[in-house]
Amino acid sequence: MKRKHLLELHEQPWMPSLLRDAATGYLEVLSRLLGLHRHLAPVVRETLERSGARRIVDLCSGGGGPMPWIHRELGELGGQVDLLLTDLFPNREAFACRENCDGIQVRMEPVDARAVPEDLTGMRTMANAFHHFRPEEARQILADAAQKSAPLLVMEITDRSWHTVLTSPLIFLLALIFMPMVRPLRIGYLVFTYLIPLVPAILFIDGLVSHLRSYRVDELRAMAESVAVEGYRWEVRRLPLQPGLSATLLCGMPENPESSGGSAAG
Ligand SMILES: C[S@@+](CC[C@H](N)C(=O)[O-])C[C@H]1O[C@@H](n2cnc3c(N)ncnc32)[C@H](O)[C@@H]1O
Repeated sequence: MKRKHLLELHEQPWMPSLLRDAATGYLEVLSRLLGLHRHLAPVVRETLERSGARRIVDLCSGGGGPMPWIHRELGELGGQVDLLLTDLFPNREAFACRENCDGIQVRMEPVDARAVPEDLTGMRTMANAFHHFRPEEARQILADAAQKSAPLLVMEITDRSWHTVLTSPLIFLLALIFMPMVRPLRIGYLVFTYLIPLVPAILFIDGLVSHLRSYRVDELRAMAESVAVEGYRWEVRRLPLQPGLSATLLCGMPENPESSGGSAAG
C-alpha cells in the first residue's frame, strides 16, 4: 500500500479547539488503555541514558499522549528527568492539568515541531505524530535534530497495513465508549460525542488517514540515511508491544553526547 498524505481534520488551523482538544484528549485515554507507557518507558529510559539528557522535550504532545505516564514510570524506575509538553495547537486544559506535576512543564505558546526553538534543549520525543509530516518536512525534523546534536526518539503505533485500515471503523465505537474517561472532561466533549457525534467522526477519519500516512521502517531508514550528519547516528526498528500492536521507533543520537554543545544536556 502506497503512502497517501490525505488531510487530517484535527490538525487544521480552522478546527475549533473544543473538537481538537476532545480528539487529542481521547488519544491520551487510548494510550493509557493500551498501556503504551509500560511498553515504551524502557525504550525512553535507555535512549535517555545513552544521551545523558536531563530534560525531555516532547513535540506534538496533544493531550499528553503516553509521555506523562512514561515520565511517571521513569520516576518509579529511579530516573530523575524533567518533561516539557509542547504542541502547535496546545491542548490548554490538558496542559494546565499536568503543569508543575512531578517535574512536568508545559509550553502554552505554539511550538512547531518543524522549527524547534533554540531554548528547547534536551532529548526530543514525538509520539504518534511523525506521520503528520510530508517526507520533506519529516526529513527537515530529522536534519534539525542531527545538526543540533539533539537526541530524538520518534514512536509511532499507527501502521500502514490492510489490517489497521480495515479495523479503523472500530475507532468510532471506541470513542463512544471511552470519551467519558478524558481528563479534564468538558461538557462540550460529551455534547459533540453523544448528541452530535462529530468527535467520533473526526477520530475515525483521522485514525484512518493516520494509518495511510504512516511511514514504514524501510522508508524511515532511507529518510534517516539521507540525513547523514557526521557524528550522529540513526536506528530504526519495529518493537512488538502486544498481540496485534507494534511500535515503529526511530532514534537519532549524537555519537558523543557529552561533546554535543549542550543540545542534548537540556
Ligand atoms: C495524533 S496527535 C498525537 C498527540 C500525542 N502525542 C499522542 O500520542 O496522543 C498529533 C498532534 O500533533 C500536533 N501537530 C500537528 N502538526 C504539528 C506541528 N507542525 N508542530 C507541532 N505539533 C503539531 C497536533 O496538534 C496534535 O496535537
